[in-house]
Amino acid sequence: MTIRPIITAPDPRLKTVSEAVDRVNDSIRKLADDMVDSMYAADGIGLAAIQIGVPKRMLVMDLDQKDGGRNPRLFINPKVVWASEEMAKMEEGCLSVPEVWEDVERPARITAEYLDRDGALQTLEADGLLATCLQHEIDHLNGVLFIDHISRLKRGIVMRKLTKAKKLKDAG
Ligand code: NI
Repeated sequence: MTIRPIITAPDPRLKTVSEAVDRVNDSIRKLADDMVDSMYAADGIGLAAIQIGVPKRMLVMDLDQKDGGRNPRLFINPKVVWASEEMAKMEEGCLSVPEVWEDVERPARITAEYLDRDGALQTLEADGLLATCLQHEIDHLNGVLFIDHISRLKRGIVMRKLTKAKKLKDAG
């Protein structure tokens, strides 16, 4: 298992539309394990493969770790097959958008389909944090960040802050 560095915005790789996984094999499971390690190392609750530079439609998530134990979940080729008309607003952050938290409005409940670690098709009904997190992570697979859902004005402020932070970091 390997902790891989997480890409932060602005970075063109984060706009990549990731490709479907055509076969769930050992190399995919190894990648999933690396994603889980990288997520925990960065104190995140969710991570898409593109955030470690791999353009595959895969994401990992652990919403239970705050209560002590770890319960990582893997979603391969996830997609939303139903979304409620009712919307819910939640404050979001992202390992690829450090130090930024903004309210984002999304469908309150969704039904998602995905492949599990054995390549079996699964269906999941989600609400609350799970619904928000799944939609946020699936967005990553389509090259979309949560700040793409906020106003242009706010996004401009956030992007300037991120660019400045990156320049400072690069300068040493
Ligand atoms: Ni994110």
